[in-house]
Amino acid sequence: MRREHELPTPADTSALGRALAELLRPGDLVVLAGPLGAGKTALTQGIGAGLGVPGAVTSPTFVLARVHRGGRLPLVHADAYRLGSVAEIDDLDLDADLGSSVTVVEWGAGLVEQLNDEHLLVRIDRLDDDSRVVELVPHGADWAARLRTLEETL
Ligand SMILES: Nc1ncnc2c1ncn2[C@@H]1O[C@H](COP(=O)(O)OP(=O)(O)OP(=O)(O)O)[C@@H](O)[C@H]1O
Ligand SMILES: [Mg+2]
Repeated sequence: MRREHELPTPADTSALGRALAELLRPGDLVVLAGPLGAGKTALTQGIGAGLGVPGAVTSPTFVLARVHRGGRLPLVHADAYRLGSVAEIDDLDLDADLGSSVTVVEWGAGLVEQLNDEHLLVRIDRLDDDSRVVELVPHGADWAARLRTLEETL
């Protein structure tokens, strides 16, 4: 099952992130795919807002990963762009337990799925008119069920 949605403006990207945040549970993995500047960080900012994370969620490109605490769940925000062959975020020795956090990984497709077979793949694409489309691809029955719930609110 695949779900595609139009995101005409950055506000729509943020709103999708906030809606996704409501579905998130401890141990969840969200893999973000899409070209440079697609809106992966913007979506994560919406997730952070939805979780009630205080402070700014910014691109972790140079630090590889950041842990944001103080919201409903800890948010681990990673950027695998520079991870190269390091296949597991576990290797980053984050000061966070992924099992009790929500882990969002930009550029994570093909790299981090083994952290959790059941995960959500979010594929963002940029159209010629600079708007975005997003495809939500559930991996696992549980994510498929949760997306059906989300669908009712989008
Ligand atoms: N739905 C949208 N329509 C138009 N612009 C958008 C949309 N969503 C996000 N943007 C804009 O796209 C730009 C790039 O966003 P962002 O930094 O989140 O991309 P990214 O995928 O994280 O990039 P990178 O690959 O460098 O990590 C930002 O200016 C953001 O506001
Ligand atoms: Mg980014």
